[in-house]
Amino acid sequence: MLLYPDLKTLHVLFAAASLLLFVVRGGYTLLLARSLRARVWRWLPPVVDSLLLTFGIWLAVLLRINPLRADWLGVKLLCVIIYIAVGILAFRLHRPRWLKITLFAAAVLLFAFIASIAVWHDPRGIFVLSD
Ligand code: HEM
Repeated sequence: MLLYPDLKTLHVLFAAASLLLFVVRGGYTLLLARSLRARVWRWLPPVVDSLLLTFGIWLAVLLRINPLRADWLGVKLLCVIIYIAVGILAFRLHRPRWLKITLFAAAVLLFAFIASIAVWHDPRGIFVLSD
């Protein structure tokens, strides 16, 4: 049975891997306008993202944190949903390049904000520092 420190380490590791894959993919296809043909790009990002979410949910269950009661987790989940939607839109074909790059940048910023919500356990994330 996985314990809290292991789960948290795995969750954070998969979060870092997810961001790395997203940035490499976006940088290569959107900024350098090249295509990634290797098969690994089809299956690896969704597998890493699914494991990130699975370990996150597992952590919440283990710690008995209810997203409807703990506002930081509720806001974090909402941001995760927006992040997924923005990330999908950024890689959709038939959109102007400037829009794809803007969506890609917005998704990276959202990701950083999500991580900051987790670190501060506060729905304001990094913006707690401005109070
Ligand atoms: C883009 C997605 C996500 C990112 C980038 C992310 C990032 C992080 C990070 C960096 C931490 C460690 C915070 C610390 O240092 O204490 C963390 C903890 C945590 N995350 Fe996530 N997370 C994501 C998705 C989720 C999801 C979907 C859930 C599901 C409910 C979740 C639940 C948790 C919980 C319960 C903790 C532990 C908080 C604690 O130790 O008290 N996360 N997350």
